[in-house]
Amino acid sequence: MPPRSHRFDSLPDYPLALIPIRKRALIARGVDVIDLGAGDADLAPPAAAVQALADASRIPAMNRYGFGLGNPAYREAVSSWMNRRFGVHFDPVTEIVPLLGSKEGLSHLALGYVNQGDVTIVPEPGYNAYKGGTLLSSGTPYYYPLRPENDFLVDLDAVPDDVLLCARILYLNYPNNPTAAIAPRDYLAQVVRRCRELDILLVYDNAYSEMGFDGYVPPSIFEIDGARDVAIEFHSLSKTYNMTGWRCAWACGAPDVVTTLSKVKSYVDTGAFMAVQQAGVAAIESWAEFVPRNVAVFQARRDAAVEAFTDAGFTCDVPKAAMYLWIPLPEGISCDVFCDRLLEDEGVIVMPGTGFGKSGEGFFRISFIASPERLREAAVRAGRVLASFGAAV
Ligand SMILES: Cc1ncc(COP(=O)(O)O)c(C=O)c1O
Repeated sequence: MPPRSHRFDSLPDYPLALIPIRKRALIARGVDVIDLGAGDADLAPPAAAVQALADASRIPAMNRYGFGLGNPAYREAVSSWMNRRFGVHFDPVTEIVPLLGSKEGLSHLALGYVNQGDVTIVPEPGYNAYKGGTLLSSGTPYYYPLRPENDFLVDLDAVPDDVLLCARILYLNYPNNPTAAIAPRDYLAQVVRRCRELDILLVYDNAYSEMGFDGYVPPSIFEIDGARDVAIEFHSLSKTYNMTGWRCAWACGAPDVVTTLSKVKSYVDTGAFMAVQQAGVAAIESWAEFVPRNVAVFQARRDAAVEAFTDAGFTCDVPKAAMYLWIPLPEGISCDVFCDRLLEDEGVIVMPGTGFGKSGEGFFRISFIASPERLREAAVRAGRVLASFGAAV
């Protein structure tokens, strides 16, 4: 075999990749596993989407290649929804690109903008597709640490000038995975202004835009003046409609950036299954009936998780959005060791902070992907592991 590429060698192992194998092994040993690892809900998608998929898949034309255009009804539905939800208009054909999940688009975008030696600004801890796309494009990620002290926000003025000079992309994600942080509007306005001054593409990952709690309504970056000159935004049906496995998402922005991503994609995929896009139309049209009820389920889980993990001895902020708790560990406890013990001794799967980059050390993430009862049980087990460190630390 020939040696692998430098690009390949620069990729760390994907943190979630090994978890299903370890989970199977525990289940085979008879362990009662509680899986709070991935952001992958255990709840049903909208019934209308399931029906639409069944109906559309019986139509021969829906089974053909989607190509870049895909199912025009999907583009129309996305465009109308962006208008209704955020008051922003995107042309269905020139300003929207259907994706096979937003991860796909987020990773591929860098191929259109990053040359060897170029830098992208990657928040850390953060979703791994930003670093992955950069490394696969032979670019260099500049990791910006998100910490409680900076409210988990990237401050471009704290990035060295030489980095800013070679920076092509800034990835931002609010509501944030894994920290569950949200971004104030004046912060977003400041970032848009700086990206325009510095000529940096602002890649705004809005995967959790529909998962706000306590009345909080996350914005689109395009609600900010000037964003069209500088931003592309990613949305997904995955979290909003419990449709992670369907691989259905979109990006929107000015024609130039959308065309760039579409062209890259024309060499790597031939479009999402058009019946899935038809189901996407049904899901989007079910928003009013489906989403508020679904979010209420997650909010109840959040409340249960915050209370139970606090009772178990952890410090928990109450997140305003997304589907995670980002929980600090006491000084001196490695998150990898803690999470490993929690898995092996107690059968609870959570994500160590380092799974999202080095700056995630000292934290672990739980996902609200189990019932309040199971979240409470997981907290009790996590509390036992925490107590077991008490003597050792
Ligand atoms: C921040 C963020 N962006 C994007 C995605 C990708 O979602 P999908 O590829 O399912 O659309 C995820 C999934 O966990 C995520 O957490």
